[in-house]
Amino acid sequence: MQAVLLAGPADVDGFRREARRLLQAQVPPVAVRWQVAGATPTGETAGLWADEAESAATSSLDAAPAGASAVRVPAAFVELCGQVLLHSDPGRFALMYRLLWRLVHEPALRHDPLDPDRLQAAELAAAVRRDIHKMRAFVRFRPVGDDRHVAWFEPDHHIVEANAPFFMRRFAQMRWAILTPRRCVEWDGNALHFQPGADRSSAPQVDAGERLWLTYYEHIFNPARLKIAMMEREMPRRYWPNLPEAALIAPLAAAAAARTGQMIEAPATPPRSVRAIQLHRVAPAPAGRPPATLDELRAATNACNACPIGALATQAVCGEGPAGASHMLVGEQPGDQEDLAGRPFVGPAGQLLDRALAELGWPRDEVYLANAVKHFKYELRGKRRLHKTAGQREAQACAQWLTHEIELVQPRVLVALGATAARTLLGRQVAVTRERGRWLHERADGRPVFVTWHPSALLRLPDGERQAAYGAWLDDLAACRSAETV
Ligand code: URA
Repeated sequence: MQAVLLAGPADVDGFRREARRLLQAQVPPVAVRWQVAGATPTGETAGLWADEAESAATSSLDAAPAGASAVRVPAAFVELCGQVLLHSDPGRFALMYRLLWRLVHEPALRHDPLDPDRLQAAELAAAVRRDIHKMRAFVRFRPVGDDRHVAWFEPDHHIVEANAPFFMRRFAQMRWAILTPRRCVEWDGNALHFQPGADRSSAPQVDAGERLWLTYYEHIFNPARLKIAMMEREMPRRYWPNLPEAALIAPLAAAAAARTGQMIEAPATPPRSVRAIQLHRVAPAPAGRPPATLDELRAATNACNACPIGALATQAVCGEGPAGASHMLVGEQPGDQEDLAGRPFVGPAGQLLDRALAELGWPRDEVYLANAVKHFKYELRGKRRLHKTAGQREAQACAQWLTHEIELVQPRVLVALGATAARTLLGRQVAVTRERGRWLHERADGRPVFVTWHPSALLRLPDGERQAAYGAWLDDLAACRSAETV
C-alpha cells in the first residue's frame, strides 16, 4: 500500500502530480491510500487545470517525464475533477484516481454514463457547484472600520479558493474578507490572500446598514406570496443563522395569515378621477402643437384618451427630475402608489431603486425618472387594484408622450428599466436578460440606450436569488452611470 500525502483538502495540483506519478508507475487504485496533511496550502489554486480544459476535447494530464507517455483524458474529466476534489467527502481522491485509472484501462467507460463511479463523481460535482452558488447568494458583508467589509459564511465544501475570484471581480473597489471555518480569504484591493479557517467569534456583529436592510426586508415581505417550502428550497435553513433577514422570517411568517386577511378586508385605495379634482390647471397645448413645457406635457397626458387605461387611473404620472439631466431612467408604468401620489417610483419598486442609487452615491434628483406608459393599468381583484402590464397597443399609443418628454428634458443617455421601456425606446422586442448591461446605439435621435432589469423584477425573485441579481443590477446601474463608456 502506498500512502500519498496531499498538502491540503483542496490540493488539486498535488493530486494531479501524484496521480500522474502513480499511473505511470502502474500503481492500481486499491494499492493507494490518500491522506491530507493537517496544514492547509496557502496561495490561490483556482482555475485548476483550466488550460487543459479549454484547449481540446482531450487533455494531457501533464507533461510526462522523458521516456514516459503522457496520460490523456477527456477534457470533461479535467473539469469534473476540479469540482469533485473540492468536495468534503474523504473518499474523493480515491474516487477520482480510480476513475482516472479506469479511463486509461477501460476505454468503454467513456460511453457508460451510468457507471456507479461516474454517477458518484457527478453527484459530488453537483454538490460543489451548488455550494459555490449558495456562497455567492448568501454571503453578507458587514462594514468594519473605515472601508473594510467582513462576512462570515459556512460552506459545506472546500470552495473558498475557487469562489474567491468571483467576489474579487464583484467587489473589486472594496476591501473585504470572507471568514469561514475551512479557509479565509482577504482582498486588499490588489491581491487575494488566503488564511486558515477562522472561528465564528471573529465575525463582526450587526451594524446600522444591516438594520436598514432588515427594515427594508420587512417592508417588501408580501404575506400573500409566502410559500415556505419554496423559500426553504431556495434558501435552505442551514444558511439562516448567517443571514440577518432570516431572523425576520419566523415572525413575519407567523403573522402572514392575519396580515393577508387584513389586506383582503381593507377598503380599496379609492381611485380619484383627476378630471373631477382638477389636479393640473395648465391647459394642454393646442391640438397639433407639441407640448412646449413639462407642465403642458403633464396636462396633455392627463387629457389623453388614445387608449382606454387613462379612464380608470387617478391621474397621468409624468416623469420627475431636472430638465437637462444627463440620464433619463425609464420604467414601465406607474403603480398603485404612484397613481395616487402623481409621482413616479414612490412605491416598493421605487424604494428599491432609491436604495440602489443611494448605494452608488448617485443622488435621485440628478436623474430624470420617467415611465414608458403614463397611466396605471390595473385589474380589480375584489377591492384591490392589481398591476397589469400594459399591452403593446397601449404602450404604442402612449409612446408619443415619452418622445415629447425626451425632447423637453434632452437627456444625454436613456436607461430602460425592463422590457416595456426597452421596447418603447428601441422600437423592437428586447430580451432584457440577454441584452442588458451594454449600450445600444439604435435610436434615430442618436441617444444610446442602456437596458437593465426593472426593480419589480428583482422584487419578484425568490429570496435565494434576489441578492445576487441585485448585485448584478447595481453593477449595471454603476456602468450606465459612468456614461463616458458610451
Ligand atoms: N414601476 C414603474 O415602472 N414605474 C413607476 O413609477 C413605479 C413602478
